[in-house]
Amino acid sequence: MNKFIYISVGVVGAILLVLGAILHWAVIPKIIHNKVIDQMQLRNGTEAFERFSKLPVPLQWKMTFFEISNPEEFDKNKDVMKLKFNEKGPYVYDEHREKYEIEFSKDGFNVSYKEKRDYVFNAKLSGKGLSPDDSLKLVSPVFGIVSQLLSAYTDPRYMDASIKKRIQSIATDVVVKEIAFGTNDYLLSKSFFNDSTAPPLVQVVDTGKKDISQLFHFLKYGDSENGKQKVWNNVGPCNDIKGTDAVQFKPFLTEQDHLYAFEPMICKSFKLVHDPKVMQSTSIKGIDTIRYYATDDNFARIPENQCHCTEKNFDLCPADLLNLNNCGVAKGMMDMLVSSPYFQPFPENLRNTTIHAPLPMTYENYGTYVDVEPLTGVVLNARKRLQLYVQLKRGSIK
Ligand SMILES: *[C@@H]1O[C@H](CO)[C@@H](O)[C@H](O)[C@H]1NC(C)=O
Ligand SMILES: *[C@@H]1O[C@H](CO)[C@@H](O)[C@H](O)[C@H]1NC(C)=O
Ligand SMILES: *[C@@H]1O[C@H](CO)[C@@H](O)[C@H](O)[C@H]1NC(C)=O
Ligand SMILES: *[C@@H]1O[C@H](CO)[C@@H](O)[C@H](O)[C@H]1NC(C)=O
Repeated sequence: MNKFIYISVGVVGAILLVLGAILHWAVIPKIIHNKVIDQMQLRNGTEAFERFSKLPVPLQWKMTFFEISNPEEFDKNKDVMKLKFNEKGPYVYDEHREKYEIEFSKDGFNVSYKEKRDYVFNAKLSGKGLSPDDSLKLVSPVFGIVSQLLSAYTDPRYMDASIKKRIQSIATDVVVKEIAFGTNDYLLSKSFFNDSTAPPLVQVVDTGKKDISQLFHFLKYGDSENGKQKVWNNVGPCNDIKGTDAVQFKPFLTEQDHLYAFEPMICKSFKLVHDPKVMQSTSIKGIDTIRYYATDDNFARIPENQCHCTEKNFDLCPADLLNLNNCGVAKGMMDMLVSSPYFQPFPENLRNTTIHAPLPMTYENYGTYVDVEPLTGVVLNARKRLQLYVQLKRGSIK
């Protein structure tokens, strides 16, 4: 039997890394082989360093929300299968990234920095008539509050009128720009892309000077130590920060390489592989690339992922979902779950919702992948896609 009830609220986030980048980077593959190492290493004054300091093209964040269209019905009979969702989106934001306080180590083997990210609403690419000021009816965050907080939250002594009101209904009104960037009630004064309560994190990456195959690999991210985060259980590889930020990989790639990219939003490193039976490589404006895609086992319920489980009993951790209650905006606060979009490749009982993907369920439409120019390791095109949820436990709020 299903111990949990899942309600999909969140965000389908997609990153796009294309457009202007293609022209700008078109010259790179012309570098002759033995010059690549020299050109691609990170050191002051090179073109690679300029790209590293300031991304020449914006990334795009595309958000689609699942709005509850009939909250009254759930409130009456508490039947999740009766809930109807309305997809609202996409809301598209351009993300401009710039690094600062950049400092090379004395030996030039690594470089540390902080990163500034600015967001600008892109009305052209967003759904027709959508505005960041739109107010949406999303699942109330109260239902995802972690159990330790919940008892305090629902204790009559502390309960103020606003909380009482929120417990009365499954849905609550949220303004798009506030949940994404502002300070808002929904995420208890945080937001998905602008956590103003946290100071900017120090990041350290490998310059490739000692070993070009380590180029751009994260050595440190925030409070990580020895390449390990302090997020998941330590029995297993889940805390390992593996790979790069998916904007650049090592040079001289082959189709047999396995790539890794670290995604701070979900405190997880992804494995990407090439397999022409699953996804074909493409050529972008005449430049041949290799396409690597994120395999299903990144989220799968396999022994290697057991360290992601935050329940005492592994059997209570559902397949293909991670709980972010110790990561990012939800840390220490909410049971917020993340998976690939549209419940793929979930077991059937978990996919049994009233939500269905509007497009055919292919990796092109809903997967995560990167198109990389193999000689230089430069990413010419990328899609990163996730779905976030608030976890409801049966009987958590009566
Ligand atoms: C790069 O070199 C310039 C000019 O010498 C200097 O002003 C700048 O601080 C250097 N940047 C780094 C990150 O070392
Ligand atoms: C960066 O390099 C310096 C000098 O070799 C070293 O002391 C430091 O530990 C390195 N930082 C990381 C995060 O590896
Ligand atoms: C991010 O938060 C800071 C501090 O609350 C605020 O000044 C800034 O305008 C916010 N950024 C956006 C894009 O809303
Ligand atoms: C899906 O949900 C419906 C309604 O609750 C139920 O009748 C059906 O058996 C479920 N199917 C699966 C595969 O769990």
